[in-house]
Amino acid sequence: MRSLWALSSAGREKPDPGLTFRDQVQIMRRVLPLLWPEGERALKVRVLFALGLILIAKVANVAVPIFYKWVIDALGTGPGAAVAIPVALVIGYGVARTGAQAAGEIRDWVFAKVNERALRLISLGVLKHLHALSLRFHLDRQTGGLSRAIERGTEGIEFLVSFLLFHIAPTVLELLLVAGVLWHYFDLSYAAVMLFVILFYGFYTAFSTRWRMKFRREMNVQDREANARAIDSLLNYETVKYFNNEAHELARFDEAKSDYVEAAIDSQRSLSLANMGQSLILSGGIVAVMLMAAYGVAAGNMTIGAFVMINAYLLQLYAPLNMFGWIYRNLRQSMTDIEQMYRLLEERADVEDRADAPALPAGGGHVVFDNVSFSYDGRRPILRDVSFEIPAGHRVAIVGATGGGKSTIARLLFRFYDPQEGSISIDGHDIRDVTQDSLRQAIGVVPQDAVLFNDTIAYNIGYGRTDASQDAIAQAADHAELSDFIARLPDGYETRVGERGLKLSGGEKQRVAIARVVLKNPELLIFDEATSSLDSRTEHEIQKNLRAVSANRSTLVIAHRLSTIIDADEILVLSEGRVVERGTHEKLLAQAGNYAALWHRQRSAAQLAEVAE
Ligand SMILES: Nc1ncnc2c1ncn2[C@@H]1O[C@H](COP(=O)(O)OP(=O)(O)O)[C@@H](O)[C@H]1O
Ligand SMILES: [Mg+2]
Repeated sequence: MRSLWALSSAGREKPDPGLTFRDQVQIMRRVLPLLWPEGERALKVRVLFALGLILIAKVANVAVPIFYKWVIDALGTGPGAAVAIPVALVIGYGVARTGAQAAGEIRDWVFAKVNERALRLISLGVLKHLHALSLRFHLDRQTGGLSRAIERGTEGIEFLVSFLLFHIAPTVLELLLVAGVLWHYFDLSYAAVMLFVILFYGFYTAFSTRWRMKFRREMNVQDREANARAIDSLLNYETVKYFNNEAHELARFDEAKSDYVEAAIDSQRSLSLANMGQSLILSGGIVAVMLMAAYGVAAGNMTIGAFVMINAYLLQLYAPLNMFGWIYRNLRQSMTDIEQMYRLLEERADVEDRADAPALPAGGGHVVFDNVSFSYDGRRPILRDVSFEIPAGHRVAIVGATGGGKSTIARLLFRFYDPQEGSISIDGHDIRDVTQDSLRQAIGVVPQDAVLFNDTIAYNIGYGRTDASQDAIAQAADHAELSDFIARLPDGYETRVGERGLKLSGGEKQRVAIARVVLKNPELLIFDEATSSLDSRTEHEIQKNLRAVSANRSTLVIAHRLSTIIDADEILVLSEGRVVERGTHEKLLAQAGNYAALWHRQRSAAQLAEVAE
């Protein structure tokens, strides 16, 4: 179960450092090529088509108020005028309006394929990269945080693309078109005043949005903290009940929530202030332009239609401008999210294949640990000078107190980590010189804590070889003494095992883990206390089967119960990362050291248990 600290400290992430202009350019350089997919002619045509539609939509949009003006001017000529002209103009007005909207919809539709493809490629790339990263990275990271980073990053890209392409660029285009129209019909002063107001508005908005960011950031931090506490208390549901700590959990949550409320109020106040400033600028601009137009009409050098047209333009531009603050903030947020996602992509794995590393050739599976020393964090030594050999087809067992480094040896052999000193080789090939893929192909691991996928039993066993037939899966289940258990389940092989396999008992999970390794059928086997959660009778049955499976295969057995490894070719006794005794069962008993003491302790415990039965 995760510790309380792990989650709640994740809630206290550092605020985003903010992006420089260069970062932003960098991001655009990564994102924009996605919209111009190399070698995909059809998609490029779509992009061009979408851009064409934007142009049409904007031209139509700008034409609407012009029609409006013509209609009014035509009507204004008096009752005697031919009615056909205004009718034609009204229809033109309707066509322009509909055209502008239809073009927008078709554009989204046409562009969806380009957009979705880009997002698919990105998330695929990120997931692939995350799988390539080392175990160390994944143990240090919270999976929830990772998936959020991917989700936010791809959403950020979607937002960036759609707003840049479909809102910001077209709005700028529209502004220029409108300025052109105003200049054409009236004089330069209208266009100049309008552009000035908009620029002023833009600067003000960018500035106030930045000012507001610290409030929002604080709000988000508090929000995450509250959420982390809520989720953590739910993840630890059972523990909360064991200690009757519901009230404690609620108080912790409420404390975080009330901090959030304060931050949210600060944020809202800043938003209201910023919005008032914005509307002051916009209204001031509108009033100024309308006044100019009113004077124009009064002075007789402007028609009523022109007055109405200007008003229509101002209202039309008002809507996108009103959203500018929101867009600006979201753009920055998207950039930050994208940056964080790309930072994940820059993360290097500590275990990497050497350039041109060959595959591990199939051999007998002769494993050699040569003076291996290892530490997870570079400070606390875990293994010291460990040397041993598993000759091809032999069985070597490791025993020792918990925390002594037994599982670590298995992880090093599987190359989840590289040792700081010494080397590990299989059939004479240093495992650092072959591909990880081929190395792992050759090794089957039944781990100490088997974790299952949230799917059916059949799926979890079949995971050992994804193309396995139903028969092969049943056979593997038989080897792991699972058949009887599965036969008793109402849904049989189709029983779902729950999140991480939590609906199965520890022993059942272990047996599923054994079955899938049997199915994988590797050259080398590692059993890390593979039967420790089983009662001694089931253990005895499985041991028999495991022995059959591992016959003539090199096998590393990490054992808890010594009775299961009596016949190992060599037994290593590990204590605080050192091999302190080694030899066959008989030899170790004769030595009367640690092993012999442990053996006698377990014997008497077992005898007691038998008496109890
Ligand atoms: N990822 C890790 N980072 C830091 N320390 C670890 C890590 N995994 C295990 N350890 C520590 O290394 C020691 C050996 O662990 P392990 O090999 O799992 O012991 P065991 O002999 O019980 O299998 C333990 O003290 C454990 O706390
Ligand atoms: Mg262990």
